[in-house]
Order: sequence, then C-alpha cells, then structure tokens
Amino acid sequence: MDSRQGCRLPLGRRGEARVLLTAAQVLPFPERLHLSVRFASAPWDRLVPSFSPRGDLLDVGCGPGLLAHLLRRARFEGRYTGIDPDPRKVGRADRWLGGDPRNRFETSGVEDVPPRAFSQVAIIDVLYLIPRSGRGTFVERALAGLRPGGSIVILTSGGGPGWKRLLDRLQERLAVAAGVTRGAAVEPCDGEEIATLLRAAGLEPITVTAVGSGYTHGFELVEGRLPDRG
Ligand SMILES: C[S@@+](CC[C@H](N)C(=O)[O-])C[C@H]1O[C@@H](n2cnc3c(N)ncnc32)[C@H](O)[C@@H]1O
Repeated sequence: MDSRQGCRLPLGRRGEARVLLTAAQVLPFPERLHLSVRFASAPWDRLVPSFSPRGDLLDVGCGPGLLAHLLRRARFEGRYTGIDPDPRKVGRADRWLGGDPRNRFETSGVEDVPPRAFSQVAIIDVLYLIPRSGRGTFVERALAGLRPGGSIVILTSGGGPGWKRLLDRLQERLAVAAGVTRGAAVEPCDGEEIATLLRAAGLEPITVTAVGSGYTHGFELVEGRLPDRG
C-alpha cells in the first residue's frame, strides 16, 4: 500500500504496449491482440505500484496473465499464483509466462484458495462478473488466503461519474439480454461497495482511489491491509 515501495513499470504506456506484443510472441496473433486491448483498456500503470515487490501473491481471476507479466516487468521478485475458472485463459497464461518457475497458473476458483498462504491478493476487474449477492462470500474467501499483515488490491470498474455508471448499467442490460459472458453475472460494482466489505472483515486502513480518468469505465482501486495479528 505504500506506493513509494511499490512495483514500478520501467516504461510509459506506449513503451509497455510495444514490449507486451513482443513478450507474448509465442501466442497466436488474436490472443496477443486481446492482451493489447486489455492493456489499453485499464489503468495498469496506476495499479502496478500498489503491489510490494516481494512476497507470495495470489491473483484471483488472473485471465491470460497480464498482471503477472506487468509485475515481472516492474521487478516483482516474489512468487506469483494466478487462478481462474476458465481453462482457456489459464492455458494461455501458462503458455507465455509459465516458463518462469516463480509463476504458477491454475484452473480453480476462489473456494479453493489455501488459507493464509499469501502476503498479497489481487482481484483485478473480476467482481462485476460475480452476482452482487455473492460478492461478500467471494471477497471473504479471497481474504482467507491472506496472512496476518497481508494486503489486498482490488480494481473495480463500475464507479466514477454518472455517465460512466449509466454506460455500465447499459452494458449490464445488453449482457443479460444476449446471455453473453463466462461469469455468473454482469453487475456493475463500485469501490465503496467493496470497501464496506473489507471494513466489515476488519481490514485497516482501507483506501478507495478513482483511477478511471481517461478510460470509459469508472475504475476504482480499493486497497486494504489485514491487521498484523492472529
Ligand atoms: C475482465 S477479465 C479480467 C482478467 C484479469 N484479471 C485482467 O485484469 O486481465 C475477468 C476474469 O474473471 C474471471 N472470472 C469469472 N468468474 C470468476 C470467478 N467466479 N472466480 C474467479 N474468476 C472469475 C474470468 O474468467 C476472466 O478471466
């Protein structure tokens, strides 16, 4: 949480976008394109400094491994474990990043997270796919993986100014109408909703930072720390 000690991307957004295309060369072009679009559509440069460069990190809903790649670019030296219920995404992540013995990718859900095994947990742009009624349990299960004193970094995408919230609700309706998505839902989630869950679980301090300027989604970064006891 102390951004002065956090990971740092060595290049700006354009430079990192170019490096990403080269780094993912083992993947077919459509998969590399997907990674590039994903990189361009979220504020990674504002997010990466929230992580400490050491420790055991769990990335819940890791998708094709973009956070793992960016953390290594930012000199993250610890062990990284990415989990996702979608085997296609996990397979893709493993193909381009699994050669690094410090990285592990698994097809599994948050219910399988081992207790107190990690010093940092990330949930990046996943919660809008979890039905609102189930988010408390989801976050609780992710927190169970944290050791005392560990930190959680969550990126939500459903906050910000009124027009962005309206766009998100429109997307929600379209997704429901089309029956699209691999998640259980498309239901916008903002930072304060998640901060309330972290507060109830006893984390402190908790910060919510708007990081969506320049993007179509109202991205919010929620950070919290588990008390150093127990
Ligand atoms: C928008 S993608 C974000 C992927 C990655 N975190 C990133 O930022 O590039 C959402 C991810 O959440 C995953 N997901 C959906 N439902 C999930 C669940 N119940 N538990 C964990 N991950 C889930 C999807 O498979 C997908 O990879």
